[in-house]
Amino acid sequence: MCPPLQAGVAELADALDLGSSGVTPVEVRVLSPALFPEMSKVNPGEFKINPRCTVLRDDLGYHQFIPHTSYLMTATSSQAIDTHAGQAVYSPFVLKLYDAWVLGISNRLIWKCPTKHLLAMYQQHVTSNHLDVGVGTGYFLKKTRWPINTQLALMDMNPNSLATAAARVPGLTPCTFEADVFEPWSLGDKLFDSISMNYLLHCLPGNLQNKSVVFEHAKAHLTSGGTLFGSTLLGKDLPRSSTAKRLMDIYNRKGIFSNTEDSLDILEHVLSQYFAKVEIQTRGCCAIFIASQ
Ligand SMILES: C[S@@+](CC[C@H](N)C(=O)[O-])C[C@H]1O[C@@H](n2cnc3c(N)ncnc32)[C@H](O)[C@@H]1O
Repeated sequence: MCPPLQAGVAELADALDLGSSGVTPVEVRVLSPALFPEMSKVNPGEFKINPRCTVLRDDLGYHQFIPHTSYLMTATSSQAIDTHAGQAVYSPFVLKLYDAWVLGISNRLIWKCPTKHLLAMYQQHVTSNHLDVGVGTGYFLKKTRWPINTQLALMDMNPNSLATAAARVPGLTPCTFEADVFEPWSLGDKLFDSISMNYLLHCLPGNLQNKSVVFEHAKAHLTSGGTLFGSTLLGKDLPRSSTAKRLMDIYNRKGIFSNTEDSLDILEHVLSQYFAKVEIQTRGCCAIFIASQ
């Protein structure tokens, strides 16, 4: 369950005598960034300039090392997290290619999670009162058979994605919200019976602990019996071919993906922080999650 501590970091954490219950943020000066390879990978240039981090240990003994940079400072504010790159790629041109390249070729041949499994997840969990977050081209919305009188809402930071997805389900006349998922969702007191988040998390910057604020926001807009479901490509733990590794590396370097540290146990841990019932299935390097209260 617990990600192993890097050599040197355990001594540092012990030396700091972090509390064993609750989450204790501590400011430390990192004298040797080489001891923190995970942080260096997140943003090596920034990290060298400002090698300070916050060490957190939660009551399960998990440790996080959050670099203080302009990109990654806290888990809750997009003022500190650069959320631009993960959505900027979705131009009208890229959206035209997306279904063929990602849903047609990559899912089957590279990530080894054929799209029909993701569609089956949608079909099983959508309700007539649904919010889709990180909509892309709206492929799944188009292919899903919706209950009668469905009320559909769409949320995305990218106006191209929102317009493309909404145009694919004109019969449902969806409400659209142009918003960054890291910010509190300005949906008033609106609650949904189901919320989907497909292939969104691996596009978000930071590690899964940083990204988990998105689960907090989703939970706040779910009815008590509601379900959050989705999928994400993991950079750790699951089998990946050399082609999958290479492509994921390229996407990570370009900021299209930020999932090098995303692992199955941390995904389960962060989902369990917000939801009592968590189910995760895997296929290829894709984790499919279903969570409810
Ligand atoms: C990989 S696409 C997923 C599309 C669709 N859900 C699917 O599975 O086919 C990711 C989507 O998330 C959106 N996105 C990325 N970062 C976001 C953020 N911080 N807030 C809201 N939407 C974001 C992108 O604009 C894009 O539409």
